[in-house]
Amino acid sequence: MMYTLQLAVIFMVEAFSQAVIYDFILLEAPYTFPGNASLCETAEWRKSFPTKATIATYQNQIFWTEEEFTWKENHLLLNSARYTDQGRYVFVCKGDEKTLKLDVLYALNVHVAEMDNITLKCLRRNANDVTWLHNNERVLQYKKDGSINPGKGYEGRVSLEKNCFKTGDISLTITGVRKTDAGIYRCFVDDETTEGYPHTYDLSHVNEKRSSPGNQTDSNFNEAQSLIIYKCLTIVFVIITCILMLVIVIPKLNCQSTSPTATYHVPMSNGVLLSPSQSMVNHPVQESDTTENKPSNTTPF
Ligand SMILES: *[C@@H]1O[C@H](CO)[C@@H](O)[C@H](O)[C@H]1NC(C)=O
Ligand SMILES: *[C@@H]1O[C@H](CO)[C@@H](O)[C@H](O)[C@H]1NC(C)=O
Ligand SMILES: *[C@@H]1O[C@H](CO)[C@@H](O)[C@H](O)[C@H]1NC(C)=O
Repeated sequence: MMYTLQLAVIFMVEAFSQAVIYDFILLEAPYTFPGNASLCETAEWRKSFPTKATIATYQNQIFWTEEEFTWKENHLLLNSARYTDQGRYVFVCKGDEKTLKLDVLYALNVHVAEMDNITLKCLRRNANDVTWLHNNERVLQYKKDGSINPGKGYEGRVSLEKNCFKTGDISLTITGVRKTDAGIYRCFVDDETTEGYPHTYDLSHVNEKRSSPGNQTDSNFNEAQSLIIYKCLTIVFVIITCILMLVIVIPKLNCQSTSPTATYHVPMSNGVLLSPSQSMVNHPVQESDTTENKPSNTTPF
């Protein structure tokens, strides 16, 4: 009851104040709150929901914060976000109030290489529209009435399942991933009010483009290397054999003529040196492709 009342009050307050900032943060990541204290004589950061507490104050150039926060360049910094850090915050400066609604999210890590295609899974039934965000920018919005709205830079390379509203599979496919696609992806339905499941993907590293299976440059290079090593070993083998012949075998052959009873062991150079075939066993193994590939039944937008 108290909770509902509190929520109602917050909605009423928000309806009358223009400045509500919505932001999100990944679990255990640091977060810098908006609001520059150096522009205020006194400033205060409060958490207003679900619990009420003053978390930081600034007065007469003196900063005070709760333990999990620090001050950095007149800004309040959360050192490492915990799940309970989500909620509503108010920044008060010169009597002016700014509200921040902060979400703390757990993201699934995605590893992808440049030019790959990738599908970020997301499910939600009974949706009226689907929105995917990259950081805070729109990647794609798709409405039940058929209207499609790709974000800037995503035209022609993002897609959803054709019948996603029927199946509830609102997974996003990006073709030809670029370096600039790195970041956090979130999936929403119903005008960004409801989260799809799973909601958050962390595509923080777009790796360098691998050579395609048709591009033999890399394996050719390794073959060339092996060939050079093989040739070097052969030359070394020949040189050592010649030296051995000169130093050991030939003088002893001369001796043999004078003392026929002596026995000789010709060194077995083959047992010491690698045979050419042994030198070539270390070919690199082609890494298997673990990234999700694009399903066939999608609509390119
Ligand atoms: C905060 O405001 C001061 C004064 O205007 C400015 O010098 C400083 O660069 C600002 N800090 C940040 C991090 O924006
Ligand atoms: C990515 O998808 C496009 C369009 O469907 C296709 O032409 C291309 O071969 C795919 N690329 C890879 C690396 O699977
Ligand atoms: C093969 O890869 C090399 C560099 O890794 C690149 O310069 C070349 O254009 C590629 N060739 C093809 C056909 O993709």
